[in-house]
Amino acid sequence: MEAPFVFGRIASAENFTDRDEESARLVRNFSSSVNTILISPRRWGKSSLVEHAVRSTRRMSKEIRFSQIDLNNVRTEEQFYEYYAAAILRSSFSKARELIDSAGRFLGRFVPNISFSPGPGTDFRLSMDWKEVAKYPDDIINLPEKIGTERGRKFVVCIDEFQNISGFEKPLDFQKKLRAHWQRHTMVSYCLYGSKRHMMMEVFASPSMPFYKFGDIVFLEKIRAEDWIPFLRKRFSATGKKIGAEEARLITELTDCHPYYVQQLARQSWFRTESICTGEIIQMAFDDLVMQMSMLFQNLTDSLSNTQVNYLNAMLSGVQQFSSQDTVIQYGLGTPGNIIRIRSALVSREIIDMVEGKPQFLDPLFKAWLSRNYFN
Ligand SMILES: Nc1ncnc2c1ncn2[C@@H]1O[C@H](COP(=O)(O)OP(=O)(O)O)[C@@H](O)[C@H]1O
Ligand SMILES: [Mg+2]
Repeated sequence: MEAPFVFGRIASAENFTDRDEESARLVRNFSSSVNTILISPRRWGKSSLVEHAVRSTRRMSKEIRFSQIDLNNVRTEEQFYEYYAAAILRSSFSKARELIDSAGRFLGRFVPNISFSPGPGTDFRLSMDWKEVAKYPDDIINLPEKIGTERGRKFVVCIDEFQNISGFEKPLDFQKKLRAHWQRHTMVSYCLYGSKRHMMMEVFASPSMPFYKFGDIVFLEKIRAEDWIPFLRKRFSATGKKIGAEEARLITELTDCHPYYVQQLARQSWFRTESICTGEIIQMAFDDLVMQMSMLFQNLTDSLSNTQVNYLNAMLSGVQQFSSQDTVIQYGLGTPGNIIRIRSALVSREIIDMVEGKPQFLDPLFKAWLSRNYFN
């Protein structure tokens, strides 16, 4: 029997739960060509949500074309154009012949070279004269608008891990270029999503930045225990096993409702369960997960400065006033003026997140490991 619960890949169909409101909002934006910016820490379910909303929109209307681009491995502007152009061509033309013709017609000046990967389907790689592209990127940036206008088709271009553009050589110039063209597109809307809330906010919510007021900003929250519990119970019973409401709640408590970890712990607990999942099983599965991660967590902790580690210790001890003289001395945080620097370093390393002015651990397992194994 295949184990229910997935993690580390897109959750869809029976593995996807809740998110009704967010999904409806995305579908609405897609259907009415409103740009969307979706922000949450990694592994909270952005990619799964967008995929879900894309499918729902497709079911309602065949008119809209979706191009999905993942910037996960994209490090340069050139690569961006390559992925962008390829994704748009791929979603516009299903026949190889059409695709080659159109690439020639729309991107002719860059002498594009298309190589198809062997096997069925039309997966292909685009190579272009990158010197030319760098001189005239507009033709590429405007590609979906051109194709859309010619064919009378609307496009939604979804770009995952959008925060990666901040690592390009000239991120601000690049953003200005994109924004200048994208805002004139009438056939195309964009769904830009990424983690690193901090950086995404800087790009999309500061008045001095090119992408200010570009679209509807959606902050994705974790999934609430009330939604997880019936989901976990259903997935257990669909495979002939049982879990009580209290035990299901324990899974969400240990993992702090973190979507990836809820699924991972549920899966491990499911494996250990013969017929009825108990609190003991869940606790053991959780201890195992923390153990498995300990090497990684040790390396992570070793890479932090002393004051950063001390700050995490203060967090775990329930400190509220980090910059009070007593706290600074008791926990060894340097000087009160140092606190802001410690915080922003931990935020940019994605170890903590500031929620309403209060620091929170992003990784519930790291938090558990620190308090049980490291500071003990
Ligand atoms: N709506 C959901 N229902 C159930 N599990 C989910 C949901 N969204 C995310 N998950 C869990 O979280 C994991 C990470 O989701 P993903 O969409 O890849 O997050 P992100 O793109 O924000 O990094 C998934 O593999 C799955 O285990
Ligand atoms: Mg993702």
